[in-house]
Amino acid sequence: MYQKSIEEAKKRLFRGELVIFPTETVYGIGGNANNHKSIELIYKTKNRPINNPLICHFANIKEIEKNFILKDKDYELANTFWPGPMTLILEKNKNSKITSLLSNHQNFVGCRIPNNNIALSLLSQLDFPIAAPSANIATKTSITSIKDLDMNLKNIFYIDGGSSVLGLESTVLKTNERGCDILRLGSLTIERIKNKFNDYVIEIINSKISPGSQKKHYSPNKKIRINASDVKKNEALLNFGKNNLTSNIKSLNLSTKSDLVEASHNFYNYINILDQTECNTIAVVSIPNHGLGKTINDRLKRASHNDE
Ligand code: TXA
Ligand code: MG
Repeated sequence: MYQKSIEEAKKRLFRGELVIFPTETVYGIGGNANNHKSIELIYKTKNRPINNPLICHFANIKEIEKNFILKDKDYELANTFWPGPMTLILEKNKNSKITSLLSNHQNFVGCRIPNNNIALSLLSQLDFPIAAPSANIATKTSITSIKDLDMNLKNIFYIDGGSSVLGLESTVLKTNERGCDILRLGSLTIERIKNKFNDYVIEIINSKISPGSQKKHYSPNKKIRINASDVKKNEALLNFGKNNLTSNIKSLNLSTKSDLVEASHNFYNYINILDQTECNTIAVVSIPNHGLGKTINDRLKRASHNDE
């Protein structure tokens, strides 16, 4: 049913143009990872600093092996969590044609196999990987449905695959001898990794080379006030669980049954809806700080960071 859009996307990618496509985490804005000009266009379109590297998307592990050196732990994680919301930082091999511009000329590149039929079908019909950051202007919120697409990106060809199943970006990991470092929290939780590999030492590191972990990021236009226990006059409310809080502007509840999977799915969509209201601030109640809640809190903290 999507083959016509996929054909069009293919044509455009071959020509060096960009396409917006769905993944199970968030929408991506993709270009040919082997084409320097396409990668330049991604950075320019997103207004993204060139030192913030892009993730390469592949159809299967064979395609990744053509370009990268995988160690034992990379294979363990890959075989367990791909296709899925995990990005592994891997070292390029000598044969790789991936343009060095997308990794700020470093040899280590983020790779993932998305778990989305449209993305996988598109990738499997190409002879190059797709480099794709989230489909938003730099520092703004990721999008989980086409209706939240930024005005400035509306002229780019997109495939509408409905609302993203998971709703939070992939977890960015780099393996080492003892386990792995987490460079960006995401949809794959530490608990799930620990559950499969209980001998892994897992550390969350605040990486300088993972600027998605920069302080100001994932921000709506309105201010965010976290851990709110009341709602002020000019505030919209992003709620979670059961309580008596309400906003006279607009209230949305990420999950009335306190389900973090449901909350993750709704997160960016609800932030985007509240961002469109007359409020001057979005008050967000406190979210449990475990599992996916840890990722939501990471995004909220960055969104509420005030540069001034
Ligand atoms: O779920 C996702 O990961 C989505 C979908 C489209 O796949 N993509 C996404 O890309 O969120 P982006 O560019 O918005 O975020 C990628 C994150 C950034 O924090 C970036 O700094 C980090 O991954 N990253 C990418 N390559 C890296 C590398 N070589 N070393 C360290 N961090 C890297
Ligand atoms: Mg992003």
